Amino acid sequence: MKLFDVYPINDITIVKAKGSYVWDQEGQQYLDLYGGHAVISIGHTHPHYVQRITDQLNKVGFYSNSIRIPLQEELADKLGRISGRPDYRLFLCNSGAEANENALKLASFHNGRKKIVAFTQSFHGRTSLAVAATDNPAIVAPVNQTDNVVFLPFNDEAALEEYFAQHGEEVSSVIVEGIQGVGGINEASAGFLQSISRLCKKYNAVFIADSVQCGYGRSGKFFSHDYAGVDADVYTMAKGMGNGFPVAGIIIAPQLQAKHGMLGTTFGGNHLACAAALAVLEVIEQEKLIANAAETGNYLMGELRKIPQLKRVRGKGLMIGFDLPDDLKDLRKDLLFSQRIFTGEAKPNTIRLLPSLALRKKDADAFLEAIQEEITAKC
Ligand SMILES: Cc1ncc(COP(=O)(O)O)c(C=O)c1O
Repeated sequence: MKLFDVYPINDITIVKAKGSYVWDQEGQQYLDLYGGHAVISIGHTHPHYVQRITDQLNKVGFYSNSIRIPLQEELADKLGRISGRPDYRLFLCNSGAEANENALKLASFHNGRKKIVAFTQSFHGRTSLAVAATDNPAIVAPVNQTDNVVFLPFNDEAALEEYFAQHGEEVSSVIVEGIQGVGGINEASAGFLQSISRLCKKYNAVFIADSVQCGYGRSGKFFSHDYAGVDADVYTMAKGMGNGFPVAGIIIAPQLQAKHGMLGTTFGGNHLACAAALAVLEVIEQEKLIANAAETGNYLMGELRKIPQLKRVRGKGLMIGFDLPDDLKDLRKDLLFSQRIFTGEAKPNTIRLLPSLALRKKDADAFLEAIQEEITAKC
């Protein structure tokens, strides 16, 4: 049997990984500033993470949500404290799309409404409602199309205000990334997020903060939406939560009521997933990785802004984007194959940096040196 060919891949096989580095089968070392798409939060194969998962696997790896799983309560406690939301409740699932799917569904159960407000250039996942709320018709199958989702222009407070004035009573939820990832590292302005918060309160709609990519400390705060000083009703999270172990969740404000059977999953919140997620939070806390993301990210952005060929350097913490002029359009490939550095991209001409939150200054410097070398060679 062959693989279903949906991924345009680079011809590299990774066989070993540690911290911010990975190695291919020829023993070639690469600096990883992509983190497997913003997933590696505490660094590859962190010893505490490996130990905690191994220990757990030797005890019990999985049992379903039909029994008590104290690790879930431990995770909820720690996540509540570190995220600054101790009075929220946690529902665990398995992926970013599933987290958003559950958030949108929960909102509709809560207020009995159907309309979802999403924004241009958003990405919320590939399952039914999540993909319907994603602004990319190419990945929306006919069966996913629905009139229940409306797209408004991102960061346009006036358009939002006007939509709510006309249709506010119909809106079930508003879903927004604090920093759009797939869309190209576009920050939601504080004013925009504050307007969403205010209008959702006024019209009893649910404010869903998609923190799947921009959350979990990546921005230099636990949730990037925290920069606007707002409290969303539901935060969705996934990527950095398990440092590569598939675990996701939503945290839910106290005014949204739970009812038996309203949400559910077989795998979500299993013993092994909780052990992985706990190990991640323990390392984030012990090694002060959120502060490191803020500091190293600021340093990196400051230095990138000094390179005149790189346009619109933007982002927060270790979620950074910049645009390339035409003569540097192959820079990402050159960084990968000549400099052995993984980076991310966004169409049409943006490089995205999504490294581990433990990235060291010396690795940032190695990247800056490599990029300068490539630019000198081309320009
Ligand atoms: C903001 C955002 N939401 C949701 C998702 C979907 O997550 P997953 O691929 O785990 O389903 C992604 C994935 O890139 C994302 O960036």
